[in-house]
Amino acid sequence: MSLNLDSRQRAMLEEMRVKVWAPVTQPAAALEAPVAMAAPSESVAPRESAAVRAAARPEAAAMALQPRASGVQTMDWAALQQAVAGCRACALCTGRRHTVFGMGGLRAPVADQPPLADWLIVGEAPGEQEDLSGQPFVGPAGQLLDNMLKAMGLDRRRETATGDGRAAQGTYIANVLKCRPPSNRNPEGEEVAQCLPFLQRQIELLQPKIILAMGRFAAQALLHDSVPDAHSLPLGKLRGQVHRYRGIPVVVTYHPAYLLRALGDKAKAWADLCLAMQVRNGAE
Ligand code: URA
Repeated sequence: MSLNLDSRQRAMLEEMRVKVWAPVTQPAAALEAPVAMAAPSESVAPRESAAVRAAARPEAAAMALQPRASGVQTMDWAALQQAVAGCRACALCTGRRHTVFGMGGLRAPVADQPPLADWLIVGEAPGEQEDLSGQPFVGPAGQLLDNMLKAMGLDRRRETATGDGRAAQGTYIANVLKCRPPSNRNPEGEEVAQCLPFLQRQIELLQPKIILAMGRFAAQALLHDSVPDAHSLPLGKLRGQVHRYRGIPVVVTYHPAYLLRALGDKAKAWADLCLAMQVRNGAE
């Protein structure tokens, strides 16, 4: 595939400090260089939060919990948004300021319908700024993500032309967890178990053409049915190939927060994005 990068996309790559400028034309297998992720993988620096204080009072947190709303699997977009906003199924609800449902895509033609999104970007969980604003990826990692998307010709805030005459494509961004873990710690198993049905329903309603899983937790959440050892494999082993989530192609890459610290892996992330673009453009 020829990427035909224009000057704006090249500037975005410069912003990402990606030094590999030649279009990536290797087949998927050639991108499979295994890379062990340092643990902890992609969390950003710890910060004090209301959730930390709530976690110090477990009995108060437990009292406030309620089972997750029933029927998530059949909810429409508006009902799903409401269910997430009111969710008290795990202790993360006690420290949050806002739930973070997701954003992006093209405006839906019919009220209460999901936005139209060819691309779905899945991250891990809200951080402090996302918790404050209620929007995903608005902190430093979000700025890098926006630059990565621009380099791909995508934009979460508006439709983008494909450049080859096909219809414009929308980009939607969501997380595995809808509430911020205290001090930006890694999501816990029970939190993922409680929250994952929301993401699964979002995917069912959005029907994206491709999913980009950013970081270990997004990859594990999406691939645990199709890759039996997804939970024990380092992220590097999941990159460079095309997985499937309920028939939808999934490409795994590094989390932007990790890339902010591991500049040397940005070129690998760019190779992942190129693979995803190849798949989306039908070249895979
Ligand atoms: N990291 C994520 O995984 N998601 C966000 O929304 C912000 C930071």
